[in-house]
Amino acid sequence: MNYDSLQEQVEALWVGRWLTDMANTSAFIFSEFKDVNWAGFYLYDGHALRLGPFHGKPACTDIEVGRGVCGKAFSTRQTLRVEDVHKFDDHITCDPVSRSELVVPLIFKGKAIGVLDIDSPLAGRFSEADQKFFEKMAAALSSSSLSELASSIV
Ligand code: SME
Repeated sequence: MNYDSLQEQVEALWVGRWLTDMANTSAFIFSEFKDVNWAGFYLYDGHALRLGPFHGKPACTDIEVGRGVCGKAFSTRQTLRVEDVHKFDDHITCDPVSRSELVVPLIFKGKAIGVLDIDSPLAGRFSEADQKFFEKMAAALSSSSLSELASSIV
């Protein structure tokens, strides 16, 4: 994958409003990455993670902090790259077709405000290079688009 070009393309879509930019980022990931069946965001509202902009089938709306792959990545502030979700204790099934998952926490000014979640029907779909790319993308999105969101929820 040409990650530099992908990063340039996604940044060209951003206009600095979190809702718009997350919506387009989800659609971009979904359309540019093969074997991805869901890409989107869960956002923390002070109580739990709530479903945000995404691309793919309808998904779980609320995830408690610490639960599932998303809640764990959020609470530990560490990316989780799960090769086989069937082997991940406490995985939350939104689509039974999903087999691997990558969840990157969104950090703004030192506070976790949500996660970027990407699912694939293939086990082991996400490489270490993919992880680095999405971590970089999430960090860039945070600084470019999340100030309005972060000030309303943290
Ligand atoms: N599998 C996630 C739930 C979100 S969906 O995959 C879209 C989890 O375990 O947190």
